[in-house]
Amino acid sequence: MDFSIKSISPEKQRTGCVVVGVYQSGKLSPAAKALDSASKGYISEILKRGDLEASPGATLVLHRVPGVLAERVILAGLGRDGNLTERQFRDSVRGALKALFDTKAAEAVVMLLEPAVGGCDSGWKAEQIVLCASELDYRFDRFKGKQDSRRRTPRKILLGQAESGSAAERGIERGLALSEGLALAKDLGNTPPNVCHPTYLAEQAKALSKVHGFKCQVLGQAEMEKLGMGSLLAVSRGSRQPPKLIVIQYFGTDRKKKPFALVGKGVTFDTGGISIKPAAEMDEMKYDMSGAGSVLGTMKAAAILGLPINVVGIIPAVENMPDGNASRPGDIAKSMSGITVEILNTDAEGRLILCDALTYAERFEPVAVVDIATLTGACVIALGHIASGLFSNNDTLAAQLVAAGDYTGDRAWRMPAWEEYGESLKSNFADMANVGGRAGGSITAACFLGRFTEKFPWAHLDVAGTAWKSGKDKGSTGRPVPLLLRYLIERSAGR
Ligand code: BES
Ligand code: MN
Ligand code: ZN
Repeated sequence: MDFSIKSISPEKQRTGCVVVGVYQSGKLSPAAKALDSASKGYISEILKRGDLEASPGATLVLHRVPGVLAERVILAGLGRDGNLTERQFRDSVRGALKALFDTKAAEAVVMLLEPAVGGCDSGWKAEQIVLCASELDYRFDRFKGKQDSRRRTPRKILLGQAESGSAAERGIERGLALSEGLALAKDLGNTPPNVCHPTYLAEQAKALSKVHGFKCQVLGQAEMEKLGMGSLLAVSRGSRQPPKLIVIQYFGTDRKKKPFALVGKGVTFDTGGISIKPAAEMDEMKYDMSGAGSVLGTMKAAAILGLPINVVGIIPAVENMPDGNASRPGDIAKSMSGITVEILNTDAEGRLILCDALTYAERFEPVAVVDIATLTGACVIALGHIASGLFSNNDTLAAQLVAAGDYTGDRAWRMPAWEEYGESLKSNFADMANVGGRAGGSITAACFLGRFTEKFPWAHLDVAGTAWKSGKDKGSTGRPVPLLLRYLIERSAGR
């Protein structure tokens, strides 16, 4: 899809479809008004008949509207007259684009930059429209014999606006870059676990690095042994797939400047190991590398935008399997930091690989470290599928991440990581255990990581409830790529 922006008169567009907004009160957006006068009241007459309820998401497709050059007109409900909430705007846009994509229009003009949305500027609106379009366009049919042939999204979408301005243009650029990053994260998540194993992730990282000029290093088992990553290696012991530590560096500015570090959990399949998981929905544990996918996706988007910052991505990639050689409950592993860990539950493997990756992050002297992990089922219980869990040892960093999530609608909610919670991680035999009790499970997991991150500002995003959808819409969401990219955009603007 190709997006552009221009100030235009909607009635004069010779195109497949023009999309204009209307309110529940019967009030017309400026573009709808223009079509209405060109058609001598055709639009307002239809609305008077009550055929469109005009709530956000509702649409009505009209053909051959008199006086209008476009083949079709889509009336898109905007809800009650006045300022829209961000959610209402997204619902309107999604409804309108769905209706548009259901037509055969090859080109379209979308006039949805018009409505006022909270404090959002046209850049935000343009970004959201592009994102929504690519979201609807996304398919993962690589493993299907027949690709979906019904799909016919318009080739070109023109976002019409009243006055010219470059904010919307930059919004389109951000939206397009973000869409690419999201698509990569989704593809990696959706790829089956027999294909997407640690070596595959490493190959994908190498390919990405080639395209975008990243420095890429992949450490194998022997190198990790040398570094003393006994905790990470304790997880991969049970798998035939060799573990990888993937390190990629994006340099958008002076190479000597300290980087932002993103550390992504890359468990390409989590059976639980010897503490094996129940059978139901275990297939979804292919998404246990979503943190890793989000790191690659975010770095791709940052590179496309050419953000003037440095970013290092660190991905511990392993498969957690039961096997004669697998770690047992009760085993003690020695982490790279020197801290010994009693593995009381082999299913709490994410923290075991992340702790060594976080220690490894120290060598980059990062400005801040954000780890992203599908870490705990408890986080899904706490926050459901709406917000990612956020934990941090630094209030500024936490606030920046919350703000980035709010901006993009990819929200995170801060939870405590106070030391008191970490007390349940006491072990009789090692420096600490890898699990606390059931209570506050996502918090004790964060506290575990917190013991390895005392040397830098750190935040942990638990995306167990947000990285993918279950049920009939099963699929990766690509979250939290939008949040992470926004965070980096803000930092690169020096804010
Ligand atoms: N990858 C899982 C977390 C998970 C479970 C995410 C279900 C999404 C849905 C993680 O490795 C895990 O198994 N965590 C355990 C920790 C427990 C053993 C302390 C969990 O949440 O049950
Ligand atoms: Mn697990
Ligand atoms: Zn896991």
